[in-house]
Amino acid sequence: MEKTAELILDGKTYKLPIVEGTEQERAIDISSLRNQTGYITLDDGYGNTGSCKSQITFIDGEKGILRYRGIPIEELAEKSTFIEVAHLIIMGKLPNNTELRQFSDLLTQNELLDEAMKHHFEGFPAHAHPMAILSAMINAASCFHPELLTDQFRDSFVVQAARLLAKVRTIAAFAYRKSRGLPAIYPNPDLKYTANFLHMMFSLPNRDYELKPEVVKALDLIFLLHADHEQNCSTATVRMVASSRANLFASAAAGVCALWGPLHGGANQAVLEMLQEIHKAGDDGSRFIAAAKDKNSGKRLMGFGHRVYKNYDPRAKIIKKACDEVLTKLHINDPLLDIAKHLEEAALRDPYFVERKLYPNVDFYSGIIMRAIGIPVEMFTVMFAIGRMPGWIANYKEVMEDPTRIYRPRQIYTGATLNHYSSVKDRK
Ligand code: CMC
Repeated sequence: MEKTAELILDGKTYKLPIVEGTEQERAIDISSLRNQTGYITLDDGYGNTGSCKSQITFIDGEKGILRYRGIPIEELAEKSTFIEVAHLIIMGKLPNNTELRQFSDLLTQNELLDEAMKHHFEGFPAHAHPMAILSAMINAASCFHPELLTDQFRDSFVVQAARLLAKVRTIAAFAYRKSRGLPAIYPNPDLKYTANFLHMMFSLPNRDYELKPEVVKALDLIFLLHADHEQNCSTATVRMVASSRANLFASAAAGVCALWGPLHGGANQAVLEMLQEIHKAGDDGSRFIAAAKDKNSGKRLMGFGHRVYKNYDPRAKIIKKACDEVLTKLHINDPLLDIAKHLEEAALRDPYFVERKLYPNVDFYSGIIMRAIGIPVEMFTVMFAIGRMPGWIANYKEVMEDPTRIYRPRQIYTGATLNHYSSVKDRK
């Protein structure tokens, strides 16, 4: 028998269907509520709103579970690679040998940017934030594929996906080179995705960057751990834009803008800056923790807390371990790692953080790894964006495959009631 919820409003009872997901998550389907009752629901910040059904990622924030297409993040982190995981997320399955080769070939075929794109890079000031460049250039790249505006599905989706995934890495590296006044380094078709990115970031025209396997592995892991995270701010933005039937590049460019903020992807940069500030001040973290608890200080313990996880973020556990391993292998002794560990221990004992269920999130240790492998701090959020691209692409695909209407939330208006125009001489 179909389960329903009953709602009593103004003495009348309404039946609303219950929707159940494959992991027994339950929702009350209120899509007919306004038609039936004249009421809408109000959920500022969407903390309790399911905005779509999705088959990509499952999170249980209470238990600290994260799975892509059903596979636990811990297994993928240990055994897989970013490109395999991108295929899993976008195409719905881990690739077999042939599929993996074809997908990698597609990435290689699409890794170059049109030469005219170089002029766009020239227009940015040297101090431009690479997230601004990334977003603008993803949009600009769409102009070189006019079919995106007319017949955006002329190519198969996997071709489109590969085009975006390949180009975003080239754009990101070029953005960095531009910001440092360095010449652009073209991709090397013999290198795999993450190694190729490091090559474009750090090689010189007359000297190739030495690719250390532990560095490539660490960055690949960071990309993999960021590959999707269900309906967060940027992914929900991508879906919102996609629902207007905007093209894939435009939707992803919007995702980059949403990700940039310090409460979202920008937190990885903010964490490192916080650790540097603590270090410079000679604080062991205690003063900063006290400030983070004081609502008037304007400070938060960056890299702590999550809308969904009320338990340790499973990605943070993996990153913390990887951080220790990479620093040991590279013989780096970073005082910021000691401060981070101390902060974590102190926060996890502190009733303020315990009561609010605030645990380290993915951004808490990722910056220390990125710093160790030479990624400059202003590029941290760009790394998140490259990693998140498969998730945005897969969510875009779901929206396009679903005949849902344009996303269009409602509001409760709290502004002035009817008011009339006054001429300028009569205004106070
Ligand atoms: N430091 C100090 N207090 C905090 C923190 C923090 N990092 N995070 C939450 N709180 C407090 C907050 O002040 C509030 O207290 P009270 O109930 O007394 O008013 C309570 O905890 C609940 O916080 P909230 O802001 O209502 O929680 P939210 O779900 O809206 O925000 C968050 C989630 C991630 C934006 C927030 O925890 C935060 O600002 N964290 C720091 C930024 C950060 O690390 N962001 C990265 C998130 S993970 C990567 C990603 O997917 O984007």
